[in-house]
Amino acid sequence: MASPNTSKNKHSLTQLFSAEEIAARVRELAAQIDRDYDGREILMIAVLKGSFLFIADLVRAVKSPTVIDFVRLASYGSATQSSGIIEVRKDLEMSIKDKDVLVVEDIVDSGQTLESLRSILLNRQPASLRICTLIDKQAHRVTNVPVDYIGFSMDDGFIVGYGLDFDERYRDLPDIRVVENV
Ligand code: IMP
Ligand code: MG
Repeated sequence: MASPNTSKNKHSLTQLFSAEEIAARVRELAAQIDRDYDGREILMIAVLKGSFLFIADLVRAVKSPTVIDFVRLASYGSATQSSGIIEVRKDLEMSIKDKDVLVVEDIVDSGQTLESLRSILLNRQPASLRICTLIDKQAHRVTNVPVDYIGFSMDDGFIVGYGLDFDERYRDLPDIRVVENV
């Protein structure tokens, strides 16, 4: 991954998706989700912290009834690349048994985070399990974890904003920007 090195390095941010583009795409995803779930209640699971803004917009855009829970995962590795060893740092509070579960992720990169989470959740016997990601980065995928709903696809590059961070910074930006070393 072409990742920025440290937060002390000088870097610039270049817009990739505007707030308006994100809002329009969220509405399209919500419509697709509503068609698929056909009025059934969806238990949406946000993977913290990156997807907090995305799920906030998504639950307001879908018409299907939803309940929300949160999970926080920790992956051992560098700040910008996961190692594939995942630990659940904050578990769900709800039972997902026999529920229609939709995992809401910020980014699927190698796919290792999601692959681990998926097997943890499948063990709990949900009625169904689907995955929605805001960003799909295909270039570094090492698993074939199925992703059902994709906001935007991109190849390489490290992005921030709309919940996504670089060393905990920039989550508050309303748009998505690429970090470039200068
Ligand atoms: P994976 O296990 O390699 O798929 O890692 C995915 C996770 O890494 C995402 O959920 C993000 O938390 C983080 N991540 C990957 N790429 C980026 C990026 O460009 N910006 C911010 N976080 C990223
Ligand atoms: Mg994440």
